[in-house]
Amino acid sequence: MEIFLHKVNGCPAEMKVEICRCGPEQAEDFYALQNEVRAAMPCPEQFVPDELEQIRSYLSRDLGLGVWQGERLGAYFILRYCGMEPDNYARFMGLPPDQWPQWANADSAVVHPDWRGNGLQRILLQTALRQLRPGIVGIGATVSPENLYSLNNALAEGFEVVCRRPMYGGFDRFLLRKLL
Ligand SMILES: CC(C)(COP(=O)(O)OP(=O)(O)OC[C@H]1O[C@@H](n2cnc3c(N)ncnc32)[C@H](O)[C@@H]1OP(=O)(O)O)[C@@H](O)C(=O)NCCC(=O)NCCS
Repeated sequence: MEIFLHKVNGCPAEMKVEICRCGPEQAEDFYALQNEVRAAMPCPEQFVPDELEQIRSYLSRDLGLGVWQGERLGAYFILRYCGMEPDNYARFMGLPPDQWPQWANADSAVVHPDWRGNGLQRILLQTALRQLRPGIVGIGATVSPENLYSLNNALAEGFEVVCRRPMYGGFDRFLLRKLL
């Protein structure tokens, strides 16, 4: 799907980019963008990074969307179908295990600083929701309470806060859900 970015590097622009579903062959591009973006974050603990092999696995079996200008990846979103795995956010919501497979994790959203301000996190979530596997009834997410850009985008997309709790080995997070 082609869209236009109206702001690039903080300046008005009209730049055509393409949102594509990505596969494991794009894992290294995702990993490189993740690391570049995280290295520039003033508070990197707001974003728990994935290993390259994790990203490769997600792009093989889950849903990964990338925003490309030609060969350049400038933003991505990963949604995971965790099923009965213990990292399914449905588990942290207290839902019984038989319901976990009906929930997907909004795992990670990354936008390069040059491309921020185009609503790409929200656009990518909306695009992913249109491509969801049948049978999914809700999306879980976690956001650092200090990560106001991501939190406000999630709330604007209809997520609600379920609770605040330590996640990923002790990081302070809001657990959010969006019922579909
Ligand atoms: C969270 C994130 C994906 C949002 O990117 P985005 O969709 O481009 O953000 P928006 O379009 O909603 O931006 C709205 C405004 O906030 C600004 N903004 C967004 N993220 C910002 C950030 N991390 N730092 C400073 N300003 C930011 C934008 O420039 C824009 O400003 P404007 O209204 O003056 O143009 C992006 O900040 C990011 O990649 N952060 C690092 C990774 C992360 O925290 N991911 C979420 C958890 S998985």
